[in-house]
Amino acid sequence: MTIRISGTGSALPQRTVTNTELTELVDTSDQWIRERTGIGERRISTGETVAALAADACRQALNMAGKTASEVELILVATCTPELLLPCCGCQVQSMLGASQAAAFDLNAACAGFLFALDTVYAYLKAGIYRNALVVGSEVISKLVDWSDRSTCVLFGDGAGAVFVEAANEDVICENGRTAGVEALLQGADGSKGSVLSCQERPVQNPFLPEQPEACAGPYVHMDGREVYKFATRQVPACILAALEQAELTVEDVDLFLLHQANERIIAAAAKRLGAELDKFPMNLQRLGNMSSATIPVLLDELNRAGRIHKGDRLVLSGFGAGLTYGATVLVWG
Ligand code: COA
Repeated sequence: MTIRISGTGSALPQRTVTNTELTELVDTSDQWIRERTGIGERRISTGETVAALAADACRQALNMAGKTASEVELILVATCTPELLLPCCGCQVQSMLGASQAAAFDLNAACAGFLFALDTVYAYLKAGIYRNALVVGSEVISKLVDWSDRSTCVLFGDGAGAVFVEAANEDVICENGRTAGVEALLQGADGSKGSVLSCQERPVQNPFLPEQPEACAGPYVHMDGREVYKFATRQVPACILAALEQAELTVEDVDLFLLHQANERIIAAAAKRLGAELDKFPMNLQRLGNMSSATIPVLLDELNRAGRIHKGDRLVLSGFGAGLTYGATVLVWG
């Protein structure tokens, strides 16, 4: 048994915010942002919600797969920016789609969330618990950004991406001889580095505390950019190599590396460490910035719709995020 991604979709807010517009908010410049990150512009919600973006992306994925909402058995939404704490975003999406037969829940592994969700769905499908699932990464991270903090506000954007995944009972052998499906996956976390990238929300607070806590500083993303940079440039290539080793493959066996779109320099450094050509690392961060868990599925959808992914291509999806979390999945497109 293996899995097949039979549909992809993505949804972005209407509003584009350029680097030049950000210079009106904070002391920065288009040149600084481009040189240090590669980002030129991003989409920012002016009302689009995490749930609505997720549902739009799911509709497209279902459409491509030729499936109706009533056929969906599971909806797993990776997000760290849901509108509501209760109910979860997955249930909102289920209702918006009318996918009444689907179980639904959320998963938070920050920017690595989509990968963790895909791996989770792979395990469910492999165990025979469900036969298909919508896997989503959706974020409106702009609401967690302190728009007076130049070290973070220039990095992020909003958006959603989704894939429809189906269990395949029989092996699908591609023309190039490769068997379609997941070949290896690896997930990791280093909770001791949690403070390097964090966002406070709800400290313990009730009338029974011996002392009332100080007011929360604000639910904004706080980041030690250099530490995150060091972690990502070391951990992402190491994780990719370990996943490839699991599948008894080498870097040369990979057609495309779809990395979390946080920073062009991080991606270039990972490519260098792996000894791979940078043109195997497609990017859209120039247009979209870091959309957290949405970056990988949006990139996947863009490449798929542009005809840049073919049956038999071997892809490595890899990302990192707050936690700190990281992961890599090796799969053959079928
Ligand atoms: N515009 C202009 N100057 C800025 C700035 C901005 N938007 N943000 C920071 N600076 C300044 C800093 O204050 C610092 O000034 P100083 O030297 O006077 O103190 C200077 O630029 C250099 O800052 P530094 O943090 O060393 O820059 P950097 O080269 O490390 O780049 C990041 C900063 C954030 C782009 C980089 O560290 C990074 O990408 N880290 C990873 C972040 C990430 O991916 N987070 C999401 C994870 S999912």
